[in-house]
This record gives sequence, structure tokens and C-alpha cells, in this order.
Amino acid sequence: MAVERTLVLIKPDGVQRHLVGEILARIERKGFHLLGLRMMMMTEDIAAKHYSEHIDKEFYRPLVDFMTSGPLVAAVIEGDDAVAEWRTMMGPTNPANAPAGTIRGDFATNTRANVTHGSDSVQAARREIAIFFPELAH
Ligand code: RTP
Ligand code: MG
Repeated sequence: MAVERTLVLIKPDGVQRHLVGEILARIERKGFHLLGLRMMMMTEDIAAKHYSEHIDKEFYRPLVDFMTSGPLVAAVIEGDDAVAEWRTMMGPTNPANAPAGTIRGDFATNTRANVTHGSDSVQAARREIAIFFPELAH
């Protein structure tokens, strides 16, 4: 078990649907420390950096259009195994496969508008945190 940091995004659908408080409450109740928090727009530039691994995928353009469509909430959380634990709390990408009790299982029906983002490895977390919260990258 290692203390890790990971990047959380509450995507534009989560903000529009007033799920910010619910999601931050789950993070706090779990016991993670909230190190950074801000509401912002994802620009095309930020999207290209953040989603560079997906740039050649067929879903890249609709994904970026969605992610730049309205404000999102970005956060850095810290705790034991935070990268994997936050992914477990979110549930799988496709909400149809997401168990009840996960964020996507409880709040999403769409593979694109699936409410939250979480870094998928410690290395990705370091890279993504540097984009949104350079002061918290380490
Ligand atoms: P995330 O990065 O948002 O935490 O989600 P993830 O790791 O579970 O999924 P990933 O494969 O990294 O995909 C990033 C986001 O792209 C959208 N997506 N659309 N087939 C599709 O239309 C499709 N596949 C992925 C989702 O918003 C996904 O979360
Ligand atoms: Mg991902």
C-alpha cells in the first residue's frame, strides 16, 4: 500500500447535473485528502494534452467536444492506493458494466458522458496533475 495522488475530473455532465457535492462527499467520506480543487473550462489545448493517448481514436473528437462543452471541476486527491481506489469508486468506462454503488453505476447511462475521470496509473496521475495543478505535481 502506497500513498498516492490522482487527478479527479467531474466532467461537464456531472457539473450540469448538480452532482459536484455528491461526488466530493463520496471522496471525503472515503477518507481521501483533497489537496486541490478548481472549477474551470477545458480548452482545446488542455484536452490535447490530457487526452494525448486517445488522439487517434474515433471517439477523440466527440470526447473533446463534450469535455469542452461546459465547466468541469478538477481535483487532486491523496490517500492509500488513491489511483486504483478512485477508479474502483468510479466504476468501468461503460456505465452498463458499472455496479450499483459506483459513480458511473449510480449516475450514468452513457459511455461518453460518464460523470468523472480518474488517472489510470501513477505515471498518468503525475502527468495529468502537472497539467491541471502544476504546484501539486511531484
Ligand atoms: P477516464 O479517462 O475519463 O477516467 O475514463 P476511462 O479511463 O474509463 O476511459 P478511457 O478509455 O480513458 O476513455 C476516456 C473517455 O473517453 C470517452 N470514451 N468514449 N467508445 C466511446 O465512445 C468512448 N470510449 C471512451 C469516455 O468519456 C471515457 O471516460
Ligand atoms: Mg482514461
